[in-house]
Amino acid sequence: MDLRPNYPVSTPRLQLRPLTANDTTALLAYRGEAEVCRYLPFEPMDESTIAARLASDLGRREITGEGQSLTLGVELADTATLIGDVVLFFHSVRHAGGEIGYVFNPTAAHRGYAAEACAAVLDLAFDDLGLRRVTARMDSRNAASARLVTRLGMRHEAHHRSSEMFKGSWADLDIYAILDEEWRAHRRRHPQP
Ligand SMILES: CC(C)(COP(=O)(O)OP(=O)(O)OC[C@H]1O[C@@H](n2cnc3c(N)ncnc32)[C@H](O)[C@@H]1OP(=O)(O)O)[C@@H](O)C(=O)NCCC(=O)NCCS
Repeated sequence: MDLRPNYPVSTPRLQLRPLTANDTTALLAYRGEAEVCRYLPFEPMDESTIAARLASDLGRREITGEGQSLTLGVELADTATLIGDVVLFFHSVRHAGGEIGYVFNPTAAHRGYAAEACAAVLDLAFDDLGLRRVTARMDSRNAASARLVTRLGMRHEAHHRSSEMFKGSWADLDIYAILDEEWRAHRRRHPQP
């Protein structure tokens, strides 16, 4: 099982493509913000952290085996402005399982861009990589994230109470998931997210 997308991956309003060092400033504009990182498992990033990550996992162009992740930058098709990124983790060949994550610049929020980009990544996960189940996990206070995955047709599977030490205090965790046949049915009902 591997994933080598033809770039850019196009949606009606967006283009998804690998991140490069040229994206450092645009990434810093949102990954460097405390409010954006509030429910993310990392502190706001500085330029050197972003550069180091672009030289490793954030710079990957393909998935060639389990344990790897592919992070795609999300650009507005009209202006080529980078507005966010979506990551697909490939957890297991045996269980055909993966996980999705996402972070967007607040200046591009509330227009459905995150849902449109995540839908394209779920297409890659199920159609191209051949996954059977994709999960999303989030801090239970992250209401915007919960609304996003619900709009994508993901089911709420679990609420883990006070289960993770998160930035200095115990946090509740919610788990969402979607199976390949559920995603295909969702896509038939909602051709656009
Ligand atoms: C999670 C996150 C990506 C959600 O962003 P978002 O802007 O709410 O999501 P979308 O871009 O899909 O926009 C959807 C919203 O736009 C609205 N909208 C407006 N115009 C729209 C359009 N043309 N099409 C679709 N939706 C539209 C929708 O109704 C929805 O609003 P609602 O959530 O109040 O119901 C964003 O909050 C974020 O980056 N947070 C910080 C990082 C983070 O916490 N990541 C998750 C870790 S688990």
